[in-house]
Amino acid sequence: MQLGRTTLSKFLIEQLHEVDDNGQLAGLLVDVAAAMKSIAAMTAKGALGGFHGAIETTNVQGEVQKKLDVLSNDALIDACEWGGTLAGMISEENEDPIRIPSEFKRGRYLLNFDPLDGSSNIDVNVSVGTIFSVLLHDKDSEPTIDDFLQVGRRQVAAGYAIYGPATMLVLTVGKGTHAFTLDREIGNFILTHENLRIPVDTGEFAINTSNERFWEPPVSRYVEECKAGKTGIRGRDFNMRWIASMVADVHRILMRGGVFLYPRDTKDPKKPGRLRLLYEANPVSFIIEQAGGASSHGRGPILDLPAESPHQRVAVIFGSKNEVERIERYHAEFDSGVDQPYISPLFSNRSLYRSEAI
Ligand code: F6P
Ligand code: MN
Repeated sequence: MQLGRTTLSKFLIEQLHEVDDNGQLAGLLVDVAAAMKSIAAMTAKGALGGFHGAIETTNVQGEVQKKLDVLSNDALIDACEWGGTLAGMISEENEDPIRIPSEFKRGRYLLNFDPLDGSSNIDVNVSVGTIFSVLLHDKDSEPTIDDFLQVGRRQVAAGYAIYGPATMLVLTVGKGTHAFTLDREIGNFILTHENLRIPVDTGEFAINTSNERFWEPPVSRYVEECKAGKTGIRGRDFNMRWIASMVADVHRILMRGGVFLYPRDTKDPKKPGRLRLLYEANPVSFIIEQAGGASSHGRGPILDLPAESPHQRVAVIFGSKNEVERIERYHAEFDSGVDQPYISPLFSNRSLYRSEAI
């Protein structure tokens, strides 16, 4: 244990001392962190934990052996429902909002979460994570679905855990983005990265290019320009990374910059984007903006997008500010007809901006 360093609890006492809620938000975040420690312990067992596999099986007693995403969901619900801090929860794993059982005191916050992000990576021992968003429910009544459908700008806290070589918790309560590393032997989250700042420029992008034929033209334009590298209008080479756990891609961007896209595509007309607004895009956007980055759905900030349903999907473009703004500009130029792919760039008003190349 590294003595003389800031633990999560001390950090929360300092950051939230002005919030007049009897310590409910700090208490909730400590409970969320407790669930993350338990999920970290399960993921770290790997194949030895018996949690692998996508199909539910039954043991000899006939009990269902749950998959890790379901166990992670249970860990979060168990850790957070009893503490008198929550009025309700929405989880990726539950179709309907989760009610606080009547034997527990109801609190003034709502918790939206993705218990195990990137779960396709569980069985191959690649980093996964937990993402959460906290909203205020300043009413005595049981929350309705509408109470959860708040615009992302109203989040009071957001964070994620990444279960990688080290387990880390990244958090914002609207006063910058800060990261804690789990000291596994002691069980404490220790502040290791205060006030993270995402570089405004980057030479690294992340997108699943197997979807290329379904993208909108402004996204194809951006990626083509990155791929053209030194020989194209950007005048520099780019690097590409795709982990397929959003949390892990976000974490890399927070640590060294980059841009992540899961854009709108036509692959499945029922899904205008892959990621979910309430418990993936909104919390990550809050974290990114608090670290000086930008987050957009291509046509405006994600944090200003009205929420319409609990599991609503949204296009996501976030990371280094200048790249996100460039991609937004490409969308605007396409929408206004300035940049239509059937017009030769020589004759269109497309912004070539070679001088802006970085
Ligand atoms: O939660 C959705 C998610 O698993 C993200 O973590 C990840 O970025 C994305 O889906 C991976 O998508 P794909 O399977 O298209 O690579
Ligand atoms: Mn996810």
